[in-house]
Amino acid sequence: MARLRTGVLISGRGSNLQALIDACAVGGYPAEIVLVISNRADAQGLERATRAKIPTRVVAYRDFADRDAFDAALDSALKEARVELVCLAGFMRILGSGFIDAWHDRMINIHPSLLPEFPGLDTHARALAAGVKRHGCTVHFVRNAVDSGPIIVQGSVPVLPGDDADKLAARVLAVEHRAYPLALRLVAEGRVRVLRDNVEIDGRPGPVRLDAVA
Ligand code: GRF
Repeated sequence: MARLRTGVLISGRGSNLQALIDACAVGGYPAEIVLVISNRADAQGLERATRAKIPTRVVAYRDFADRDAFDAALDSALKEARVELVCLAGFMRILGSGFIDAWHDRMINIHPSLLPEFPGLDTHARALAAGVKRHGCTVHFVRNAVDSGPIIVQGSVPVLPGDDADKLAARVLAVEHRAYPLALRLVAEGRVRVLRDNVEIDGRPGPVRLDAVA
């Protein structure tokens, strides 16, 4: 079967991109990354893509008159590469509603919290301050409200005594690297349906949960 043509948008380190690259390199994986776009020329993730022989583009916000023009440049790069699904992986620019609507149910994001808890930034420090027992990550379809949208996979980890934001972030990142390839696989295999803004997987209510013990 044809593999799902996937475009990945990044802004930085690209460790989630790497997890997706590694997953795609395994025989039988149902998606392939055909383009990586960064809004920053110095994003480390661009080197990861180049090493994997994946075409890259830099689309820098400051090169455009406004957000609509920036979004249009992203959209045409994705279309030129015949991208079918967009994965946001640490992409730090807010996208306009026209772009988000154009990629409705064809764009997913990974967020470092168990949504709907802790949308936005500094999620690990906020989780520690709130005293939650478990924290984690969410892979979801992108909607106009930031860090909202039908949830495909959540991965949780315990919050341990002595945690600081860095230690907790590292534990969450490890589960992110399992959750994102799993979510992309489920979407690419056509096992995910969005019904009234909830996800069904194999006909059953989602999301899939990965619960790490440590
Ligand atoms: C991850 O924590 C992801 O959940 C968030 O931004 C971070 C990106 O890290 N959206 P990386 O660039 O994938 O290493």
